[in-house]
Amino acid sequence: MRSKYIVKDVLKEITQTLNSKIPRASREAQLLLMAHLDVDELWLMMNRDKEVENIDRLNSWIERRVKNEPYEYIVNSVSFYSQEFYIAEGALIPRPETEILIDEILKNVKDKDSDLTFVEVGIGSGIISIMLALKLKNAKFIAVDISQKALDIAKINIEKFGLSDRIELRLGSLLEPINEKIDYLVSNPPYIADEEILESNLSYEPQNALFGGAIGDEIIKELLDEVLKREINFFSCEMGYDQKDKITNYLKDRDYKALEFYKDLSNFDRGFTLR
Ligand SMILES: C[S@@+](CC[C@H](N)C(=O)[O-])C[C@H]1O[C@@H](n2cnc3c(N)ncnc32)[C@H](O)[C@@H]1O
Repeated sequence: MRSKYIVKDVLKEITQTLNSKIPRASREAQLLLMAHLDVDELWLMMNRDKEVENIDRLNSWIERRVKNEPYEYIVNSVSFYSQEFYIAEGALIPRPETEILIDEILKNVKDKDSDLTFVEVGIGSGIISIMLALKLKNAKFIAVDISQKALDIAKINIEKFGLSDRIELRLGSLLEPINEKIDYLVSNPPYIADEEILESNLSYEPQNALFGGAIGDEIIKELLDEVLKREINFFSCEMGYDQKDKITNYLKDRDYKALEFYKDLSNFDRGFTLR
């Protein structure tokens, strides 16, 4: 056991440990050490000879990262839409493409001061409802999730942003816990087919946040049925890159005003708004 652990040596050692196990090992070593010390990149550059304390915690983080556990679950933090959110196993790690869903919704809401009632199905960590609540100051949100663990994580974030009086959480499936009139339905539902084999780091994420059924689009279709039945004015939803035709066909001969798809930054079809 060494008596002193110094920033520059620790960085080198973490990089060596991570090297054969994960890509971008030296960057990850920096990120883990920065999170452990609660410092930024500049501090790390300027303090290479400082001592690192509480090395046992850092070592336990590295052991977890070597097993490919996502960095975000280890440090309990994720950045989304330029904000920091709490995250833990039990809620999906927010994906950057979901920022586009938020932009699409904001484009559709012409009057940003209106007091619309939004419902989100599958709130997960809370990122969508929270970002929308921050942008639309008079809107009210009811958010549903089938997972109590996800709701617990969302609650932490809702409190962190001081939005407990505007975002209400309900446990249940799809729109079953909602009797209110909905102005705008939002969802980033699970939409991957059950049989699809995913990268190993995804095994840490809740499976009911990823898999949407045998084909993958089952939950989206159930939500579409609800939107038409309840005559909800707007429904914006993320989807898989190969689901555009299936959704278009599903709505063939149904009564609606408009169906517009949007793409992600890699130019894949990624979601739609139904009016
Ligand atoms: C893809 S994650 C999205 C989480 C978060 N909104 C985001 O964008 O990061 C899907 C979420 O839907 C929830 N979910 C799955 N099936 C559901 C159902 N039938 N009813 C309500 N929520 C469901 C999962 O627990 C998970 O939190």
